[in-house]
Amino acid sequence: MDIYKINGGKKISGDIPISGAKNAALPIIVGSLLADGTTILTNVPDLMDIRTTIKLIEHLGAKTSFDNETNTLTIDAKEIINGEVPYDLVKTMRASIYVMGPLLARCREADVSLPGGCAIGARPVDIHLQGFEKLGTDINLDHGYVKARTKGLKGALYVMPKVSVGATINLIMGAVLAEGETVLENCAMEPDVVDLGNFLIKMGADIQGLGTERIAVKGVASLKAVEYHIMPDRIEAGSYLLAGAAVRGNIRVTDIVPDHIEALLDSLKEMGFQIKTGPDWASVAPSDNLRGILVETTPHPGFPTDLQAPMMALMTTVPGISVMVEHIFENRFTHVAELHRMGAQITIEGKCAIIKGGTSLMSAPVMMSDLRAGAALVIAALAAEGETEIRRIYHCDRGYEKLCHKLSAVNADIRRVTGGM
Ligand code: UD1
Repeated sequence: MDIYKINGGKKISGDIPISGAKNAALPIIVGSLLADGTTILTNVPDLMDIRTTIKLIEHLGAKTSFDNETNTLTIDAKEIINGEVPYDLVKTMRASIYVMGPLLARCREADVSLPGGCAIGARPVDIHLQGFEKLGTDINLDHGYVKARTKGLKGALYVMPKVSVGATINLIMGAVLAEGETVLENCAMEPDVVDLGNFLIKMGADIQGLGTERIAVKGVASLKAVEYHIMPDRIEAGSYLLAGAAVRGNIRVTDIVPDHIEALLDSLKEMGFQIKTGPDWASVAPSDNLRGILVETTPHPGFPTDLQAPMMALMTTVPGISVMVEHIFENRFTHVAELHRMGAQITIEGKCAIIKGGTSLMSAPVMMSDLRAGAALVIAALAAEGETEIRRIYHCDRGYEKLCHKLSAVNADIRRVTGGM
């Protein structure tokens, strides 16, 4: 298995171009199954999760071709079948549950393995399932599989008990071809939801209220296949800004939508970093007056849980006490044990992590436990003295396109080598 070897303590500086957003691309690829034509998607990042999703829709009868030089994915979804979605696919990627909407709309049935627990908490799918029941679906759980059957999806009012990105996306996809109007309340406002919605609108869907708590969808008879450009990845952009900040470098992320990372930029400013933005870029530079801060993860437009671990890596380098409160997932501090190995001083009390910053990090052999925990270790290694070896880097392959290449291009000393455990 490959590992990263990172020689830390070097200032990184320069521009990093940002790829298409993984969390928008995943539902959009699945959403292409709603039209029985040929969809062309551009700015699709070449990531493991994207490859898994392509496998998944091929399993359901779609024909695809992915040009990873131009990041263009072509999907022919003329013939779609309810090929039972097996545990092997779902266990590696929870977003597999997104096939429920398109399958119920086109085949009136969907058999999907229940996602199991995962590294960052229980992550149930009860809201997805309850929402589909409201839309006129019978749900049965059978030997670890969700067996969903409908005589035809029907619009309904559903107030989601908790803000969920996945459930909002799944239910919008269920509603676009349903009979009548669906009103979803307490919706996620994440840009990924808006991008999926804009894709569906381009296909001919009637959706109002994207980016707000209340989304109204009037079902239409059919959707047409279109060409669509995936929005930039705000979490990738944020991770590289945090890496730049951690080594006190000057990093500019380009091809982004700065509004999508406003909460992060505000936190970096509060810490004392110099932040600049342009129409499609944001940059970070150090200052002599850095201080610890309090950050709480909340649904968009608040501070994203996906940047919690990378932000904690930065906090360990900034003088003073910082506090991170994780409100979205109950077990998302698995990076802390590894950061301890690198000399970080962090105490966990329930949902709170208290970080005593400003102590120097040192290299150590460490291991990624999930995607964003992995990004945190890369950032810590860039800031640490000496050579850090990071194992289980397949986690980062799920969500950071060409990570090694992008960081090397801004002068980081990072190598991917084969042969670790
Ligand atoms: C998505 C993102 C993930 C991000 C998360 C929160 C994708 C592929 N993944 O995950 O990167 O960290 O949003 O921004 O886009 N919940 C329930 N029941 C449900 C669904 C969710 O209780 O049926 C809970 C979860 O356990 C969690 C909270 O709701 O505590 C938010 O989860 P959700 O927004 O659904 O996360 P995902 O869509 O899985």
